Amino acid sequence: QTGHTTLDYGFVNTSATKSAITFIDGDQGILRYRGYPIEQLAQNSTYLEVAWLLIYGELPTADELAAFDERIRHHTLLHEDLKRFFSSLPTTAHPMSVLSSATAALSTYYESESDPNNPEHVELNTIRMLAKLPVIAAYAHKKSIGQAFLYPDNSLSFVDNFLKLNFGVLSELYEIDPVMSRALERLLILHEDHEQNASTSTVRLVGSTGANQFSSISAGINALYGPLHGGANEAVLEMLGRIRDSGESVQRFVERVKNKEDGVKLMGFGHRVYKNYDPRAKLVKESADEVLEALGISDPLLDLAKELEELALSDDYFRERRLYPNVDFYTGVIYKAMGFPTRMFTVLFAIGRLPGWLAHWREMQQDPQTKIGRPQQLYVGSPERNYPGAN
Ligand code: SDX
Repeated sequence: QTGHTTLDYGFVNTSATKSAITFIDGDQGILRYRGYPIEQLAQNSTYLEVAWLLIYGELPTADELAAFDERIRHHTLLHEDLKRFFSSLPTTAHPMSVLSSATAALSTYYESESDPNNPEHVELNTIRMLAKLPVIAAYAHKKSIGQAFLYPDNSLSFVDNFLKLNFGVLSELYEIDPVMSRALERLLILHEDHEQNASTSTVRLVGSTGANQFSSISAGINALYGPLHGGANEAVLEMLGRIRDSGESVQRFVERVKNKEDGVKLMGFGHRVYKNYDPRAKLVKESADEVLEALGISDPLLDLAKELEELALSDDYFRERRLYPNVDFYTGVIYKAMGFPTRMFTVLFAIGRLPGWLAHWREMQQDPQTKIGRPQQLYVGSPERNYPGAN
């Protein structure tokens, strides 16, 4: 402690703001969106109904939800020029890089309607992002597998349109699988918000400078990309695949983690806030069995993940550090069973988190106490010294 500031790496002990959107109790493993328990919302609600709840603070009436859904459906088209943007990127481009850069590029079409202080612009761009980011995400997927982009189908629900954009092909009729549709809806709901996580804090910090929603969300997508954050769901599948391919036992792998051999971590485990089982991970694990069975898929990686979890939860090393599965530990197995490539997993996280980012951007924007984010620091560098020859 020096002067009037305390060094608090990663803001572990610092509240950067007040918020009424999401409540987490890390010790009890509680997560509520605007007071509603995540378990009830995941079981009974829809992605757009929860998006409305997060953004406006109350559950929508049937008419409000219908109008919201209708407006979003009629903003799904991207400007045709944006197609060239995708073709300018290498086919090997990671879909998260495509998503963040296309989101920033999207804003170039709406610069005259992106005044953060204009409520109509804010409403319109909230609709535009909820409508267009899933399309961009699906185009990132299609680009990565060398398939033609489809146009959105406004006769479909948000999730079904997203599934068709990702898995439909021009040469065939695409049948929506109701099991996949319901499973993806639940997974997206589980990701919609999580209070001041790194990507949401990024959205708030960037927005606090007066940057518009597109630029702020694009920054949030980049923060989410990191393997310690949203990128963990992709890293979990890679970790499970490496264990399987190497023939290494889970016992040996866990020993390497405990010995911190070349910095290896048990991806999908641990959390800045949850020092108990992440309630989302519990729900995902429950639906993993159900979804794979309904899709008629058995995946040895799911069994491997369960074996790994069981071993870790019985080991003092993880118990002492209060390390439990987080939301990323089981999601990848389900996304893989649905047919998404591993590099699309974090993009799915981003589409899930989009309503939370939008809700926090607006809450920050409307909070009269919001100041431009500018933390202090403790300077530990060189004292004053002179440039050679200068006097
Ligand atoms: C998400 O914030 C959010 O809400 C995020 C999120 C959201 O919805 O937005 O929930 C989504 O990002 C979930 C987290 C996904 N990340 C991973 O699964 C990556 C693996 N997890 C770790 O990198 C880590 O657990 C963090 C980053 C998630 C949290 O780290 P902390 O709280 O800063 O803990 P720490 O790094 O201080 O670790 C404390 C101890 C250390 O051991 P010691 O040095 O004391 O001996 O626990 C160890 C760490 O080495 N540890 C792990 C570990 N996580 C922490 N050891 C092995 N494997 C791990 N995964």
